[in-house]
Amino acid sequence: MPETAGRHDLTMPPMLTGETVQPAQRRLPGAPAHVGVIMDGNGRWAARRGLPRFEGHRHGVEALRQTVRAAIEFGLDYLTVYSFSQENWNRPVDEVADLMGLLKRFIHNDLNELDKADVKVKVIGARDNLKADIRALLEAAEERTKDNTMLTLIVAFNYGGRQEIAAAARALAQEAVSGHIKPADIDEALFSRYLDTAGIPDPDLIIRTSGEQRLSNFMMWQAAYSELVFLPVHWPDFDRQAFSAALAEYSARDRRFGGVTGQYRSDALLARAAKT
Ligand code: FPP
Repeated sequence: MPETAGRHDLTMPPMLTGETVQPAQRRLPGAPAHVGVIMDGNGRWAARRGLPRFEGHRHGVEALRQTVRAAIEFGLDYLTVYSFSQENWNRPVDEVADLMGLLKRFIHNDLNELDKADVKVKVIGARDNLKADIRALLEAAEERTKDNTMLTLIVAFNYGGRQEIAAAARALAQEAVSGHIKPADIDEALFSRYLDTAGIPDPDLIIRTSGEQRLSNFMMWQAAYSELVFLPVHWPDFDRQAFSAALAEYSARDRRFGGVTGQYRSDALLARAAKT
């Protein structure tokens, strides 16, 4: 019997089975350590094919698998994927249930393979309004993979950048009221430690698919100096080649962080990304 979530057949191949992934031994010079991805366009991908939106999300999970493989191959340290925003609760109940079901199945089907591939799973976003079974799954995935070192896959689920900043401000205000810190102690470094991404470097590159050119509440603090690449492809069609194109564009950018000296181009990364 195929595994199902509600009304949908969710039989999908596990993540890495049958695939040979050649991980980069270490990050290439000039390559991004952290890439964030706004996986947009599932609905339009489905509509163009006369399919229900769920099919777009289901194929989106396959694109996510390919993206994780490519991230390992390209030697990234962190890959953050925006899989459910706090604003996504405004979608029809059936679609919200579908996305919750897909997250559950992704963890059920792929966690073994992720663990074998030495991928650490971390989840960012609010947990308090998630169902207990989903919270438990997320916590178990984090616990099981916490010592893995090849790649950290950060799943932004029930995530909102502004909400994350407000939560950090609340926690810092509480610390000040309790006398653990003084308001004058609050600087960028301390503030960062109260975000969900504490200890994780800011994304060097944020990719958004589907042609939309906005951040939609993704990593509002962390994106201050991220390079942004917008691709015309809908998320289910995102693959290694599209990822390579985004990395090539990134590596040709001149990152100055407000100064005058740019980071050198990564010819090594360009060569790896161009390899078929
Ligand atoms: C945006 O496309 C995509 C989402 C809101 C969900 C992203 C989810 C996945 C890629 C699959 C689920 C993966 C996990 C791990 C839960 P859209 O629906 O807004 O597309 P549209 O703008 O074309 O309507």
